[in-house]
Amino acid sequence: MAKLAVPLLILFFLLSFIPSQAALPLHTPIQKDHSTGQYIITAYLKTPLKLTKLLLDLGATYSWVNCDDYISSTYQHIPCNGSLAKTIIDYGCMNTCDDPPGPNCGNNSSIFIPNNPIKAVDYRKVYGVNAALVDSLALPDTQGSLVSINNFIFSCARTGFLKGLAKGVTGVASLGNSMLSIPVQINKAFSSSPNCFAMCLSGSTSQPGLALFGSKGPYNFLQGIDLSKSLVYTPLLFNPLGRDSDPDTHRLSPEYYLGLTSIKVNGKMVALNKTLLAIDGESGFGGTRISTVLPYTKLQSSIYKAFTLAFLKEAASSSFNLTTTKPVKPFGACYPASAVKNTQMGPAVPIIELVMDRQDVVWKMFGSNSMVRVTKKSVDLWCLGFVDGGGIDGPSIVIGGHQLEDNLLQFDLQSKKLGFSSSILSKGTNCADFKFSTGKI
Ligand SMILES: *[C@@H]1O[C@H](CO)[C@@H](O)[C@H](O)[C@H]1NC(C)=O
Ligand SMILES: *[C@@H]1O[C@H](CO)[C@@H](O)[C@H](O)[C@H]1NC(C)=O
Ligand SMILES: *[C@@H]1O[C@H](CO)[C@@H](O)[C@H](O)[C@H]1NC(C)=O
Ligand SMILES: *[C@@H]1O[C@H](CO)[C@@H](O)[C@H](O)[C@H]1NC(C)=O
Ligand SMILES: *[C@@H]1O[C@H](CO)[C@@H](O)[C@H](O)[C@H]1NC(C)=O
Repeated sequence: MAKLAVPLLILFFLLSFIPSQAALPLHTPIQKDHSTGQYIITAYLKTPLKLTKLLLDLGATYSWVNCDDYISSTYQHIPCNGSLAKTIIDYGCMNTCDDPPGPNCGNNSSIFIPNNPIKAVDYRKVYGVNAALVDSLALPDTQGSLVSINNFIFSCARTGFLKGLAKGVTGVASLGNSMLSIPVQINKAFSSSPNCFAMCLSGSTSQPGLALFGSKGPYNFLQGIDLSKSLVYTPLLFNPLGRDSDPDTHRLSPEYYLGLTSIKVNGKMVALNKTLLAIDGESGFGGTRISTVLPYTKLQSSIYKAFTLAFLKEAASSSFNLTTTKPVKPFGACYPASAVKNTQMGPAVPIIELVMDRQDVVWKMFGSNSMVRVTKKSVDLWCLGFVDGGGIDGPSIVIGGHQLEDNLLQFDLQSKKLGFSSSILSKGTNCADFKFSTGKI
């Protein structure tokens, strides 16, 4: 008996630090800031926990938070010679800091050089080297209890990094495919959870959507709809020559790419230069990426021209009878709103289909995702919500926020695949309609 008691005590001691009682998934609302079009998540950070608004970035390697007014009793630096530093080793070490000690200043502590995905930081004006920190991050579980991740790793940043971010936002939340992203750090904290998160951006101007961490479903929306059953899967691709990638260590970019192979408008194939649809092995350019930072899908010029022409032709056909009017920038094709019928799926326009790795894996876009309502001064228009991305010095196609709204996306980082639902408006629900089940833990 006496021999057993000590190991049991140790086991009990360890278990009390594992947040195993949490009812996964953890979740956060995603609010759209309508003046900027940015998607904002809400997390709780520091001790005592403080509500913190962060820009949602699907392409970031790690999160960062303004540290110029950072007050917390639990933050710690990451010693350069420690074991934790090895997980972030690529980013370097601050040997001595001459400023007063604080969150963004410590001797022999690991550093990051963060950036702002909306407006690139001018490192000549804002000092780029910032301390890496460990502190508590908490999110509500399905019961509404805040669950803390005690060793959440992120970067400090100076106030100058916040330029261009929506009012009240104090940093960036990484949801990329990296060891340091929020979903992966949550996965590490709950050993039995799947390495998987889901995201549903709301098309409503007032009601938020949400992100769900550490669950493959069920995803219960109102009216008893479990959307995990409606997902279609396509492989997630990662660029070996993209943002934050490192060919020397074979580290891939955290950004999510899809194997789009063709685009159809009203069932008809758009003639595209297929070379542009693959990631180029030498430059890393080309391919199709998903972004929550771009408001509208951006297409490389030749793709944009072919796609817009195909759409104009189909919209003018007898099934729609739509005649364009003077477009409003940044859009290239607009119709008087009065001429367009409304449906449950938004304005009645030709359906756009993004064909993925297989002919039967198709992301369908209806009017609610393809068209943008523009009302200003004397105009009231529905405009095709895709923009000309010019030449290529990046992906050929970047699928932007408007095209993702009221679609459920499941990022399965274990199996490296994306589950997508196409518009859930067709199911009579939307991203603001998520219902947290209570009951069994
Ligand atoms: C790291 O460096 C500190 C200060 O120089 C030292 O006290 C500590 O023992 C070192 N830790 C390791 C794991 O080498
Ligand atoms: C770093 O070490 C130097 C020299 O030991 C000391 O003067 C300075 O205050 C330290 N800075 C911090 C932030 O601890
Ligand atoms: C940083 O660590 C190195 C090696 O452990 C040590 O020699 C040096 O004194 C430390 N610097 C400060 C300012 O503590
Ligand atoms: C297709 O795009 C590639 C990459 O930009 C280019 O080299 C090639 O000339 C294009 N082909 C055609 C037929 O335009
Ligand atoms: C479009 O116009 C044609 C010819 O006037 C007509 O036959 C057709 O019904 C119209 N279609 C719609 C959807 O209004």
